[in-house]
Amino acid sequence: MTGLPSSQPAATLIRPGLIEVVDRAVPTPADDEVLVAVSCVGVCGSDTHYYREGRIGSFVVREPLVLGHEAAGTVVACGKQATGPAPGQRVAIEPGFPCRRCHPCRTGRYNLCPDIRFLATPPVDGALTRYLAVPSDFAHPVPDTLSDQAAALIEPLSVAVWACRQGKVGLGEEVLVTGAGPIGVLCALVARAAGARPTVAEVHPDRRARARGLGLEDVVEPSRLAPADRRFHKLIECSGAPAALRQGLGLLGPGGRAVLVGMSGAEDISLPLSLAQTQELTLQGCFRYANTYPSAIGLAAAGHVPLDSMVDKSFGLEQADEALMATTRDPSLLKVVVQP
Ligand SMILES: NC(=O)c1ccc[n+]([C@@H]2O[C@H](COP(=O)([O-])OP(=O)(O)OC[C@H]3O[C@@H](n4cnc5c(N)ncnc54)[C@H](O)[C@@H]3O)[C@@H](O)[C@H]2O)c1
Ligand SMILES: [Zn+2]
Ligand SMILES: [Zn+2]
Repeated sequence: MTGLPSSQPAATLIRPGLIEVVDRAVPTPADDEVLVAVSCVGVCGSDTHYYREGRIGSFVVREPLVLGHEAAGTVVACGKQATGPAPGQRVAIEPGFPCRRCHPCRTGRYNLCPDIRFLATPPVDGALTRYLAVPSDFAHPVPDTLSDQAAALIEPLSVAVWACRQGKVGLGEEVLVTGAGPIGVLCALVARAAGARPTVAEVHPDRRARARGLGLEDVVEPSRLAPADRRFHKLIECSGAPAALRQGLGLLGPGGRAVLVGMSGAEDISLPLSLAQTQELTLQGCFRYANTYPSAIGLAAAGHVPLDSMVDKSFGLEQADEALMATTRDPSLLKVVVQP
């Protein structure tokens, strides 16, 4: 690879609370990989969790770990057998690389691959660096009308596309979205683009204001939802708060469907099972996404989701620790990005 440096800085989690910019080798793409020069990385709640606590559930950071999994960039080199994007092509990087051989992989549910390698999930290093080698079919071309930061946010938009697919969200449906973090806001915007009518319930006033500013009309404080108002066909739970899930289930009409996007961290929570039984409610798990990138890119390119307006602040690689703490310090911020 001519013209490329041999080493590069990477924002690396050394131990909880300590990020250092460490020199790492620039990878050589394998035969089926492309090398991407990273232009923008979105900071996700999971990055912040690893930074603060060094673990998420059973995923524990035992070795220094490069964070960041919401990434976009430009292809700069291709492996010998890499098909797909050519050098110069701008891409959104799908960050989970499945084995392609197991039963979930072969049946199209590769998000459930037990051997998936997901960026910034221990022990796989993430994208807060300059160059990243990825399987060529996980580097998805984006049109030049999408900015670098919008291309990076195709990752959380994919979570929302998958949540709406898992929810079978359809035309004219009333959809309750609980939690107006980046994920809830994107779920509501995708549900609207799918022809549904989203209502967003959020406890934090700044987050409610932010959601309204992004064009969502029906945004309420959760206690304003009348318990008898069981008009909702679908619930997309995006807060991780058990109280929001219980409330949302109670607001579903007969035959309603609840999509579990938010992660509470708790193994067990109590739910109104007799209600679920007598109303034939469906509880649908939801984990990452499969085959969503082209749809998410299409939605963003068509202007259905104002990704650029979601970004509040941008940081350099040297300020990665500030970027990781930004939304904790100022909860009114919705999304921050790092531009390596
Ligand atoms: N299933 C998946 O694949 C997947 C992918 C990405 C994120 N997640 C999870 O989705 C959730 C949302 O992600 P995010 O980045 O938007 O998080 P976030 O923390 O920024 O947003 C959560 C929001 O929920 C609000 N909230 C808390 N309690 C509430 C209640 N009782 N009712 C209504 N709102 C309430 C909070 O004020 C906050 O604004 C997180 O739990 C995250 O771990 C899941
Ligand atoms: Zn994320
Ligand atoms: Zn697999």
